[in-house]
Amino acid sequence: MRAVVQDRYGDPEGLRVAEIDRPVPARDEVLVRVRAASVHPDVWHVVSGRPYLLRLMGSGVRRPSCPVPGTDLAGVVAAVGAGVTRFRPGDEVFGETLRGQAWRNGGSFAEYARAPESGLAGKPGGVSFAQAAAVPTAGYIALLNLPADRVAPGRRVLVNGAAGGVGAIVLQLAKAGGAHVTGVDHTGKQDLMRRLGADRVVDYTRDDFTRGTSRYDLIVDVPGNHPVSACRRALTPDGVYVLIGHDHFGRAGRRWLGSVPRFGRLMLMSLFVRQVRGGAGGLAKAEAMETLRAHLEAGHLAPVIDRTYPLDQAGAALRHLADGEPVGRIVLTA
Ligand SMILES: NC(=O)c1ccc[n+]([C@@H]2O[C@H](COP(=O)([O-])OP(=O)(O)OC[C@H]3O[C@@H](n4cnc5c(N)ncnc54)[C@H](OP(=O)(O)O)[C@@H]3O)[C@@H](O)[C@H]2O)c1
Repeated sequence: MRAVVQDRYGDPEGLRVAEIDRPVPARDEVLVRVRAASVHPDVWHVVSGRPYLLRLMGSGVRRPSCPVPGTDLAGVVAAVGAGVTRFRPGDEVFGETLRGQAWRNGGSFAEYARAPESGLAGKPGGVSFAQAAAVPTAGYIALLNLPADRVAPGRRVLVNGAAGGVGAIVLQLAKAGGAHVTGVDHTGKQDLMRRLGADRVVDYTRDDFTRGTSRYDLIVDVPGNHPVSACRRALTPDGVYVLIGHDHFGRAGRRWLGSVPRFGRLMLMSLFVRQVRGGAGGLAKAEAMETLRAHLEAGHLAPVIDRTYPLDQAGAALRHLADGEPVGRIVLTA
């Protein structure tokens, strides 16, 4: 099969397309004929090998242990392992190739990829392969970080970075829950946030939400560009602050450890400050994928696609992610 191959860590231009063996699914795995795979920030991290810490977290110390990038996919089931019960060849599915949350290559930038049955859900008929592929990892992060009691009618939620991959899903899930949602993002993304359902939008190039008079029951912060103390000023007394974190494709300059020390400080702070949430909640991947499937089917989630690229332009797609100011997700099609 044709696959994108990463021989070493570095610039996305170092990726190449090669003929390699088709993977064989294990007992609890599904072999998927990939039709679309999303190009998201964590793919960039593993291709670049930065922050360096990820190389010690299973990605591979000197070079990537799995040479094929990509974690999210949508496609058609080609074969199933002996223990798989929910899918059979011909089913249209979407999901994640990696188990749990991991910072390494997952093999979805290829014509065929294997994924655990628990990481997949049936693709709703009215949703394209490209749209479905845009959801899994970002959707899982969003669900892990959304306290259910905060996204209910009468609650006010602010999403900082609301037009990005994770933020757009948080925004839509909070709206689906009935909350009043304020989205914060760049000038060029104000219309997108309104289209996604934001009740109020803030342009971060002009206004600083931490200095306004509005107070929120939940702040979900993707870029993490304000001190936590400033964000706390914008919370109600029992409001909750949740950090998703963003490395800005290396421009944040945290080459060794990325956002990890910041999360460590937040965890410590959460022991003393009720408003700060220290870690993500627990949620099984299979349950998360079913929830995302249901939201897609109900029309609560409408993934926005910036551009699609063919498999052999994976490097250009990653370059566009980091430098091209995409509005919506970038997706590879195979
Ligand atoms: N998306 C995924 O599937 C995925 C998967 C795994 C992990 N993650 C992790 O989750 C984090 C976020 O990913 P993402 O996909 O949501 O990133 P993203 O698509 O780049 O979204 C970040 C958003 O924040 C905006 N932003 C930048 N600076 C801002 C500021 N000062 N104030 C408000 N908004 C600002 C960005 O807009 P501009 O830059 O245009 O200004 C962009 O719209 C990353 O750390 C990533 O590694 C994401």
